[in-house]
Amino acid sequence: MLIFGGSASEVLAIDVARRLGLAVSKLETKRFPDGEKYLRVQQDVSGQCVVVIQSTFHNPDEYLFEYLLIADSMRDLGAKKIIAVIPYLAYARQDERFNPGEAVTIQTVAKLIESVGTNEFYTVDAHLHRISDISEIFSISAHNLSGVPLLAEYISRNIKLDDLVVIGPDEESEQWAAAAARVLGVDFDVLEKKRISAERVEIKTRRLDVKNRNVVVIDDIISTGGTMVETTKVLRREGARKIVVGCIHPVLVGNALARLYDSGADFVLGTDSIPSPISRVSLAPAIASALGKVKE
Ligand code: R5P
Repeated sequence: MLIFGGSASEVLAIDVARRLGLAVSKLETKRFPDGEKYLRVQQDVSGQCVVVIQSTFHNPDEYLFEYLLIADSMRDLGAKKIIAVIPYLAYARQDERFNPGEAVTIQTVAKLIESVGTNEFYTVDAHLHRISDISEIFSISAHNLSGVPLLAEYISRNIKLDDLVVIGPDEESEQWAAAAARVLGVDFDVLEKKRISAERVEIKTRRLDVKNRNVVVIDDIISTGGTMVETTKVLRREGARKIVVGCIHPVLVGNALARLYDSGADFVLGTDSIPSPISRVSLAPAIASALGKVKE
């Protein structure tokens, strides 16, 4: 197995390869003066099983296109099997036609990934709220790993908190709150969220009592921060003690992180699906463990 990191995930690829007892394989990418991308695979991939790790954050079109270029070249160079690992899968939020005429972007992305000869697909905690299984959008073998156990283990090891409860900011986050609560051995609950616009949400508590309790809030994505900022404010109002905010994918648009600390969060954590100032938890163990089971 050869492990390659696209330019979005070079460090993560090194870590995954190291955990599998391998050295990361080399790619050269650069830009031509007109903005086009140049790619060279610097390793013989003929007859090999290749893994391409490439998250699709901040410039999703660029990183997705780079993945397509890499995988298509690998196929052309004779790779036997191509495995895509896209820890943050952009375009997953539009997994349905909410208004007439809209593009269901995740379907297009899945078709593109398959069209370049990808044989197997892995992502992490994909935001596919209206799709129960990722295999519904791919016709190749597709897997949705979870980074929540790693995030919860990090919190348990590094932030010692008694009388703890885990909260999900909305009903959709129940799966992540439940998984984190299992690892931490505590109860969980979810709040009610109403989205007003792309940046604004309203959060209401349900039956929850957090007065004088420590809270871990878990969600899949912090994008504009609107959801977590409102959640933190509500928890502060309700008398929570320490508030740990955790997510898998720290997109952190604009000043989202500063707004979160301003709203009263004590710790803010995420994974390296997207490298960021809060990416303290590596997904490498989960990815390496999944790749370790692949039949080449
Ligand atoms: C929504 O369904 C997601 O799980 C997140 O709550 C949402 O994507 C976070 O976005 P923002 O940080 O912009 O509120």
